[in-house]
Amino acid sequence: MGLQQHLILIGPMGAGKSTIGRCISESLKSEFIDLDKLIEERAGASIPWIFDIEGEEGFRERESQALAHSLDLPSCIIATGGGCILRPENREALSSRGFVVYLSASIEQQLERTSKDKNRPLLQSDDPAIVLARLAKIRIPLYQMVCHLEIDTNAKPPRMVVEEILQFIQVEHDENIKC
Ligand code: S3P
Repeated sequence: MGLQQHLILIGPMGAGKSTIGRCISESLKSEFIDLDKLIEERAGASIPWIFDIEGEEGFRERESQALAHSLDLPSCIIATGGGCILRPENREALSSRGFVVYLSASIEQQLERTSKDKNRPLLQSDDPAIVLARLAKIRIPLYQMVCHLEIDTNAKPPRMVVEEILQFIQVEHDENIKC
């Protein structure tokens, strides 16, 4: 028996959504969609380029379209970008069309996991900690509003987070989790 509905990962930058999503998809042998990658493929351009040329609004429009497209596919694992919960229509689509897991992470963990990254336009600032704290204040209530399950990822290896999710959803999976 495979997935009965989409399994959707939400949460801030550096929560581990892509790593955990890929690992779950291997363990369930289900398709994995990384929304940021899909946006780049559909645009034929990188996320920094889209932000540069079209602004954040242009990116958000592409993000909503990619999400709607993914939710129309057969049940799969979807890792969203950290701001995907900003638009009310995305929140409605997320919570009604799949099982939504919120991966939470402290600002310190997020900084540690994103420090070398040049691909996240919102973090190309002199003080990414302040940016992350400002985003968290607005977004945490939205993540919590949309999710069906919240998992704290702080100081946990990805495998442990994957095990918690698989245990909760009780879908038949490969016991040998590799991540
Ligand atoms: C963003 C998060 C990024 C990406 C874009 C904007 C955000 O995805 O969608 O840079 O607004 O938090 P990750 O959460 O996968 O880093």
